Amino acid sequence: MADRCYMCLLRLIILCPFLTGSSEANITDVFSTSGENVRLPCNNALSNCTSTTWNYNRDSSQTVELTAEGIKKNDIERRERLSVGSDCSLNIKNVTQQDYGLYICRQYVNKQQQGTDAPVYLHFLHVSSSSSQSEIRSGRSVTLSCQLYSYSFPCDTLVRSEGIQLMWVNQANVSVMKDSRYQILFSSTHCNSTLTTRLLNEDHNREWRCQVTQNNRLKTSATITVKDSAPVDSSTLIPVSSSNSEKSNQTSAAPTQD
Ligand SMILES: *[C@@H]1O[C@H](CO)[C@@H](O)[C@H](O)[C@H]1NC(C)=O
Ligand SMILES: *[C@@H]1O[C@H](CO)[C@@H](O)[C@H](O)[C@H]1NC(C)=O
Repeated sequence: MADRCYMCLLRLIILCPFLTGSSEANITDVFSTSGENVRLPCNNALSNCTSTTWNYNRDSSQTVELTAEGIKKNDIERRERLSVGSDCSLNIKNVTQQDYGLYICRQYVNKQQQGTDAPVYLHFLHVSSSSSQSEIRSGRSVTLSCQLYSYSFPCDTLVRSEGIQLMWVNQANVSVMKDSRYQILFSSTHCNSTLTTRLLNEDHNREWRCQVTQNNRLKTSATITVKDSAPVDSSTLIPVSSSNSEKSNQTSAAPTQD
């Protein structure tokens, strides 16, 4: 089983550089973030789901059979969050980081496999702050990290061949990637993007969002709200920012989004 999976992975790695879209190879990418409900399509379903088996794999050593003959197995972890849809898709409720990986839909009739596998990669996006809550204060710098958990290719292959990108946006959904206020670093070893900035008073309760796009199309996003642990009442505050005059204009017109 593990060998077979390894082979299929190998096949994908070999095929991928020559294919522009995943659809030709019948591979599906699904992107998720914490708490979502996702549907993993079964692209080789026969007329009825009693032939359908869903297998799950996160590291090539271990394959877990989640469903067989269209029915959930009893002895699996996270059983209560899984269900098989009427179209044989696999539904996962309230997704968590432990769900990312490779899901394979496979059909058996009289114990004989029918057709080819229909693999689905579930990717999981997570944002976090590397500073503890008590350290988050205006005037201090904060680092936010956006991590894409994937079990498929090395991250740099995802970026180069699959057109995957991580991008930070502000609450108005405008990219901050070129904003000099932020230092943004992407690591293709870890598949994460970190954003570092010095917090301003008006950042209290501000949201930053990390988006994952594939070929410039939004796939999913994850949000973090930064709460100043010692917020200052802005009406008593003399702007401390040492920035230039256009910036101080902006400060007085800063949106209070509460
Ligand atoms: C979703 O999972 C989290 C734990 O990961 C749990 O705290 C929460 O209550 C769950 N939500 C629902 C709607 O089941
Ligand atoms: C990515 O994640 C690793 C491990 O969690 C961390 O050490 C690193 O600082 C993060 N950011 C970048 C840009 O590598």
